[in-house]
Amino acid sequence: MRVDIVTVFPEMIQQAISHSIIRRAREAAVLDIRVVNLRDYTHDARRTTDDSPYGGGPGMVMKIEPLCEAVQAVREHQADARPLVILMDAAGEKLDQKLVQEIAAHESLVLLCGHYEGVDERVRSRLVDREISIGDYVVTGGELPALVLLDAVARLKPGVLGKDESAQEESFAQGLLEYPQYTRPEEFEGLQVPDVLLSGHHAEIGKWRRRESLRRTAERRPDLLNKVELTADDLQFLSEIGISVQTDK
Ligand SMILES: C[S@@+](CC[C@H](N)C(=O)[O-])C[C@H]1O[C@@H](n2cnc3c(N)ncnc32)[C@H](O)[C@@H]1O
Repeated sequence: MRVDIVTVFPEMIQQAISHSIIRRAREAAVLDIRVVNLRDYTHDARRTTDDSPYGGGPGMVMKIEPLCEAVQAVREHQADARPLVILMDAAGEKLDQKLVQEIAAHESLVLLCGHYEGVDERVRSRLVDREISIGDYVVTGGELPALVLLDAVARLKPGVLGKDESAQEESFAQGLLEYPQYTRPEEFEGLQVPDVLLSGHHAEIGKWRRRESLRRTAERRPDLLNKVELTADDLQFLSEIGISVQTDK
């Protein structure tokens, strides 16, 4: 997968993509991440990427021309002439695992990082395919949101996670929160690892994990239960712990 990240703070991105799983995936050529310095697409001595807003008001707005030139240059250099162009924006669609899966189906992405008061409105209609928010709060710039999106998408790509790491059973992968996990020691200050996990009985462990997933989801995110496919066994367990579910499925 190829991802071009357009930013006025390239070092922020370079730093973050030089570690852990993302670094490994780049080294293995599963991910080809390019950091595009927006200032390279300006034509004045001060390399200006923003200007004051028409109509007045505080802050600065990112100009359309450098963003247009940067995306155009990316398109010319990408094998895929129609990468999905995403603007990171607090007013965008809220990111969740379903949206991450949708985006991971694309082979090339361009992520635009806003700053200051955001981007000139015309950027949306002229350049952008999707606008994505990482949640109902505002951060200073689009770099951290772009990195969140990149990381969540990358770990779904084949070959990014090692064979010991799986995205299949994680929270949200099947619409539920993940079951509790334990590692050595078996006992810590009176806190025991559940016996079933020490039993070596795979079917029983699977059943326990499913049930603990259901329990945790019911306790913390009951809204998710309505959207997930539940078996008769699941419903029976939920009713045993006092939860009745109206499924949308
Ligand atoms: C300070 S914010 C601009 C906030 C904007 N004035 C507003 O009210 O929505 C600067 C940039 O940070 C990024 N950003 C801030 N919060 C975000 C969020 N929740 N999700 C995605 N991007 C966000 C966007 O790229 C945005 O252009």
